[in-house]
Amino acid sequence: MTCRSSCIPPEQLCCSPAGLRPATPSSGLSHPSLPETAKEVTLLVNNAGISTGARLSTGDLAEIRREMGTHFWGTLEVIRAFAPILARGGGGAIVNVLSALSWFASPGAGSYAAAKAAEWNMTNGVRLELAGQGTLVQGVFLGAADTDIAAGYDGPKIDPREVPRRSMDGLLDDRIEVVVDEWSAMVKESLSQDPAPFYARMTDLLGAS
Ligand SMILES: NC(=O)c1ccc[n+]([C@@H]2O[C@H](COP(=O)([O-])OP(=O)(O)OC[C@H]3O[C@@H](n4cnc5c(N)ncnc54)[C@H](OP(=O)(O)O)[C@@H]3O)[C@@H](O)[C@H]2O)c1
Repeated sequence: MTCRSSCIPPEQLCCSPAGLRPATPSSGLSHPSLPETAKEVTLLVNNAGISTGARLSTGDLAEIRREMGTHFWGTLEVIRAFAPILARGGGGAIVNVLSALSWFASPGAGSYAAAKAAEWNMTNGVRLELAGQGTLVQGVFLGAADTDIAAGYDGPKIDPREVPRRSMDGLLDDRIEVVVDEWSAMVKESLSQDPAPFYARMTDLLGAS
């Protein structure tokens, strides 16, 4: 697949379009000016995210649904709205900002991790479906970056600017997956192994739920 990212003028980048907030499972994506403002989109970046800290087993179900709504349903609704526009432009690319927590669960982030896992495999499914129209769908994985969502996390954090930088480099190489940092690479590596020692190590590092 040939990526057209090198040809994307900055004014055509579409990232968290203003006014589009398809955050809840029940909300359909609607924005009166979408067809006007989005005529020539060739790159869609799905970056929106929240972390509620809701516990899966005892937490507020509405919060858990809100988290799934933002990461899974919201991203999917935006993709469905923009896919025909990307197709008209020759295919373009979609970048979904995922997480190392798409691949494991950590204390205090069970709901977030479940939503990010759902978003990850939705990314894989959409990639297959949109390949025929020439749209490259890239998943980007990171551990912790120094932004608001990670304000309560005391561990090491990368510079968030590294994320778009690595993603754009990946688009130039038609890469469907970008693993931004060592933490994400370590988590990915663990997936082919027995999860018991991995989770024992994570409990040592991150504490218990
Ligand atoms: N930072 C990290 O450590 C880290 C690690 C792994 C993955 N990620 C992922 O990286 C992405 C970006 O997060 P961030 O680090 O930049 O966090 P952030 O600083 O908290 O920013 C999140 C952004 O998402 C927007 N947003 C939230 N809900 C939305 C909705 N329903 N519709 C539209 N926009 C919405 C927020 O807009 P408002 O402020 O207007 O609500 C905010 O601009 C997220 O997908 C997150 O899961 C982050």
